[in-house]
Amino acid sequence: MSGKPQVCIVGGGMITQVQILPSIYHLQRMGVVGQISICALDSGPLKTLAHDPMLKKAFVGQSFTAYPSIDTDPKDKFPDKFKEVIAGMDKYGIVVVAVPDQFHLPVIEAALENDQHICCVKPLVLQYEDAEKVAKRAYEKGLVVGVEYHKRFDDRNLIARRKYRDGQFGKFRLGQAILHECWYYRDSNFQNWCTCENSDMFSYIGCHYIDMVHFITGLLPKRVSVYGIVEEYPNGKEGFLWTDGRVIWENGACLNGQNALG
Ligand SMILES: NC(=O)c1ccc[n+]([C@@H]2O[C@H](COP(=O)([O-])OP(=O)(O)OC[C@H]3O[C@@H](n4cnc5c(N)ncnc54)[C@H](O)[C@@H]3O)[C@@H](O)[C@H]2O)c1
Repeated sequence: MSGKPQVCIVGGGMITQVQILPSIYHLQRMGVVGQISICALDSGPLKTLAHDPMLKKAFVGQSFTAYPSIDTDPKDKFPDKFKEVIAGMDKYGIVVVAVPDQFHLPVIEAALENDQHICCVKPLVLQYEDAEKVAKRAYEKGLVVGVEYHKRFDDRNLIARRKYRDGQFGKFRLGQAILHECWYYRDSNFQNWCTCENSDMFSYIGCHYIDMVHFITGLLPKRVSVYGIVEEYPNGKEGFLWTDGRVIWENGACLNGQNALG
């Protein structure tokens, strides 16, 4: 595998299990990337990934190095382990950022500091100024920062893009996108991190629709405003569990997005 970029995935949760690890394993099988390591806060999710029967069946003989080791007690937490692992990588590898939204920035900073290219799950960061800083730093160092918007690869969106660009849909004027996630998601790890001080349902889901409109039409967003309703999760923490967002585009068009854990 020498000579091929090493990959370090930071975050071993749902999106790593169903989307990122299978994609990276596939790239490894095709000979595009080299060794894979995965960092999580503790060994719990790493064990789940290492023993996932579907991954084992689909990617026979492929594996990853776990940080911390899967033999450690899942009660032991390693919040800074990713810094050590990234610092130990060869230059110009790939760091895949797949931790909760509010932790993207510190992982991105560690990756840029250590000359690593980045593939980050959405939303890249939570403040516009931080996005500008990341872009500037990466440009200065000649590094790529990609945001993983995999809905761009959905056939329906590719077809819509071609038709829009062929003029078959006319001009974008008004749009509406609605995704209310399942109620039972409130019981998942969301309640530990997607709380008022960290993120909200619009930043979490609505960013996809903003990206889609841009991807399909080529237009850029100009202004955004969001109204959020605060509600308690089962563990008593509070989150913006219902949101209504409005995005104004450079041609004056308007996209309305409703998102909820409802
Ligand atoms: N459609 C999409 O593009 C899509 C879908 C789902 C999630 N996401 C994004 O993916 C990210 C993760 O979501 P998820 O559902 O997998 O979350 P999750 O709660 O299932 O997993 C989070 C993971 O981050 C790890 N983690 C937390 N702090 C860490 C630290 N300091 N060091 C290393 N690892 C740490 C945890 O151990 C856990 O494995 C979020 O930013 C979310 O917005 C994108």
